[in-house]
Amino acid sequence: MATGATLLISAILALSCFHAIASDPSPLQDFCAVDKMSKVRVNGFPCKDAKDVVAEDFFFSGLQLAGNTTNKQGSAVTPVNVAQIAGLNTLGISLARIDYAPYGLNPLHTHPRATEILIVLEGSLYVGFVTSNPDNKLFTKVLNKGDVFVFPEGLVHFQFNYGTSKAVALAGLSSQNPGVITVANAVFGSKPSISDDILAKAFQVDMNTIDHIQAQF
Ligand SMILES: *[C@@H]1O[C@H](CO)[C@@H](O)[C@H](O)[C@H]1NC(C)=O
Repeated sequence: MATGATLLISAILALSCFHAIASDPSPLQDFCAVDKMSKVRVNGFPCKDAKDVVAEDFFFSGLQLAGNTTNKQGSAVTPVNVAQIAGLNTLGISLARIDYAPYGLNPLHTHPRATEILIVLEGSLYVGFVTSNPDNKLFTKVLNKGDVFVFPEGLVHFQFNYGTSKAVALAGLSSQNPGVITVANAVFGSKPSISDDILAKAFQVDMNTIDHIQAQF
């Protein structure tokens, strides 16, 4: 009996621990605005003294402004996360505005720490994500103004403005610090670069092809 109870308690503890590490930790206080001066290193950011916290710690201005989409991809992301709003620390939520030029692409990327929910405010987008191994199944959808789509945490996804006018979207993310890994940049634009023979073998092409792709990043 004692062993059975111990096992049960262990299982419950294991489950609750798993829950705790499966997403950003839940706050144990009203807020934990980032103390930018702190020399303490923790998983996340240390809190500033609550008596020094002000309304500005919860405030951001400027999301009505379009990002500059004059770049190779024709898109611009304006993030509003813990880097912009100190008071978002520990709260497990953030926001981004995404602007797309005609035929602009928000290229293949993943958020290692967040699920994303995106709403189209203007224009139309062709969006998609790919499931993990072994299926690597592609889910896609054409979104028009007012349509909402979800990109599950960690999965590679994209948005493409296939139209001749600009598009605008707003995304909510389930982390104050969602992170971004842009696939092409991480693979072909790492510093220092991953060696040609590794990439050639991984992508099953010759090294000249790899050099050509690397030169774009
Ligand atoms: C947008 O970015 C391009 C390329 O970097 C730059 O030449 C241009 O001046 C920028 N436009 C504005 C309005 O900042």
